[in-house]
Parts: sequence; C-alpha cells; structure tokens
Amino acid sequence: MSSVYPFSLPWPTVGYVVLYVATLLLHAVFMSYVLAGVLTVAAAKVRGLLRGTKAGPITTVLIDWLPFALSAAITAGIAPLLFVQILYQEAFYTANLLLFHRWMAILPVLIVAFYLLYVLKAKSVAPRLSAAVAVAIAGAIMFVGWSWVENHLLSLDRAAWVDHYAKGSMVYRDPSVFARFGFWVLAAIPTSAHLLLRQLKAGASGVDASAAPGHARVLAPAAVLSLLGVVALASPILQGRWALFHPPTTEVSGAIQLWLAVGALGALLQLVTWVFAWRGAGGSPWGLRLGSVGLVAFWWGILSAREAVRAATLGSAEALARHSRVATTSGLVVFLVFAVIAVGAVVWIARQVRAGLARNS
Ligand code: HEM
Repeated sequence: MSSVYPFSLPWPTVGYVVLYVATLLLHAVFMSYVLAGVLTVAAAKVRGLLRGTKAGPITTVLIDWLPFALSAAITAGIAPLLFVQILYQEAFYTANLLLFHRWMAILPVLIVAFYLLYVLKAKSVAPRLSAAVAVAIAGAIMFVGWSWVENHLLSLDRAAWVDHYAKGSMVYRDPSVFARFGFWVLAAIPTSAHLLLRQLKAGASGVDASAAPGHARVLAPAAVLSLLGVVALASPILQGRWALFHPPTTEVSGAIQLWLAVGALGALLQLVTWVFAWRGAGGSPWGLRLGSVGLVAFWWGILSAREAVRAATLGSAEALARHSRVATTSGLVVFLVFAVIAVGAVVWIARQVRAGLARNS
C-alpha cells in the first residue's frame, strides 16, 4: 500500500483511520499538557524545596488546571480507543491481554493521580509533602504514558507474542519503548508551552495577563529545543529504527515521509511564533493563532506518520470485512451526531466564558 491514507481500501476502513487520527489528536493535545505539566510542577516543587523559592505563575496555572486537563485527556482517549479496537482488533487486544495486570494497573494509577492533583491544588501543605505529592503524580502519569507505548509496540511485534505468553511476562522490554516514550515527552513540551502561553495571556488562575510576554521568554527556549528534537527524532522513532523487531513499515515509507513533512511544517510555524515570543511579541493574537495552526499541523503530521507504519497491516480480508460490518451497525452515525453535539456544547461554553471574562474586565 503506497497511498498516504489507505485510499485504495474500502471507505469504512479509510473513514475509521481518519476518525482515529482526528480523535487521537485531541487526546495528544490534552495528554501533552498533562505529561509536560506534571513534570514541570514536580521539578518546580523540588527546586522550591531545595532553594526555598515560591511557585511562579506558570506553576500556579498548571496546578490549577491539571485536574481538568487530566480528565480531558482521559475523556479524549475514549474515542480513539474505540476506533483502534475496530481497526486493529487482534493486535490491540492481544497486547492488552499479554500485558494483563500491568496493563490494567493504569486504571488505579490514574485514579490515584487524579485525586493527588486535587490534593496539590486544594491543600497548602508543607513544602516537603507537597513536593512528594508532585513527584508521585509525575511518576504515576509517566507510568501510564509508558504503558501506552509498551502496549503499542507489543501490538506491532507479533513475533514476540508467543514467547511473551510462554514466559508469563508482564513487561515488554524492547529498548525502543524507552526511546519512544522520551519522544512523546519531547513532543509534549511545545504543546503544553503553547497552551500555557494562551492561558497566561488570558490571565488564567488570576495571574497578571500583562506579564505574558515575559513568561513567553521563559517558555520559548524549552519549546524551541524540544521542537527541533522532535523533528530530528520523528523518523527513526516512528519507523521503529531503534527497535529490536521490524514494524511493518517498508511499503508505506513514501506516506510516512509526506506526513513527517506536514509535521515538520507545523513545527516550523511554531518555531516562528516562539522566536517572536522570545523577542517580546509573545502574546500577540496573530502569533498565538499561527502557533495553534502549527500545533494542529504538527500533531496531524506526527500521528498520521505514526499510523502509516501500522496501516500496512490493514489490508487483510478479515479486517476489511470487519470494518464494513461494523460500519453498517449505525454506531458511526450515532458517534457523529454526538460528536457534533459535544463540539457545539464546548464551543458554546467557551464563548460564554470569554464573554463573561470580557464583561468582568
Ligand atoms: C494522562 C494519562 C495518559 C498518558 C500520559 C497517555 C499517553 C499516551 C501516549 C504516549 C500514547 C502514544 C503511544 C505510542 O504510540 O507509542 C498514547 C496513545 C493512546 N492513548 Fe493515551 N495516555 C494517557 C491516558 C489515556 C487514557 C485514559 C486513554 C483511554 C481512555 C488513552 C487512550 C489512548 C489511545 C487509544 C492511544 C492510541 C493507542 C494505539 O494506537 O495503539 N490514553 N497515550
């Protein structure tokens, strides 16, 4: 299959791949805010403990918004979770079952992390305890992210399944899990920096909105360095070049390159906005809009390239028959109706909040 999306395949399969990538993009944005956010808060708390400094505006906004962001990341994960099961039923379920308790552990871990985020937000506890809670949250979120990477790679590594089952192993130890997880952390940094800048500009959590250009200068170096790192690493990581197994990439490398170029273009747009931010124009509306367009292109490119690696496995007669069968059960229509209602509700709420904020100021 050489097409970018598997357009040579029947429409149900193509439709599910597009819906999967689109919904995964939403998950990736919220998940990035959470992943980079909890690491930032943990680092700030530990530094505050060692140096006796107080939390700055960036940490304040993060602590205030992380509980919401985590629930948004979890909710936004549901739709791609449904589509991935339709598209890659056998591989996805097999990896779930092989990892077994290790896989299911993400549920209690997420629940604990969720409540600890509220503890961090609600209680002004002793600095030492507060730092310990922040580090525990970061560890829990990293465990969940790590588990998704492990599950994804195990689902691609069919040759490992029998051995994994025979050994009763609950951990998938390919070294690429480490590299790939690092890649997602790197990709999370510019995304969370962009969202944070928007929040700081809007005066979220009572911070001084006029100080946004100053905060942009703090965020810019991290965002620029991580964007450059993602662009450099995307191809080897997503094509599994450092894995000990061979993902099904060979037939789709043209598609991967095209989507990597889209991702790189998104990164370039973001780089431009960060360079301006660093020079003092961080809060300008056009800069933020350009950054948001870049952010969407960045994730669309990365996630499509990620998918192009796996889409080579979509052509089996059994998979195609399953996709057309599922497409005739009206589930898709119900999903689309509710998606439109949900997006409409979110847009309406955002407009109400913006109007309310404008009235108050
Ligand atoms: C905040 C906690 C979470 C983090 C840090 C996280 C992180 C990640 C990462 C890094 C990936 C990419 C895996 C890869 O390609 O190697 C991923 C994929 C995914 N995540 Fe999340 N995730 C979280 C929670 C969730 C939850 C609760 C759900 C479901 C409700 C979910 C649904 C998904 C789905 C469906 C995929 C794609 C899986 C695949 O295609 O194999 N995530 N997540």
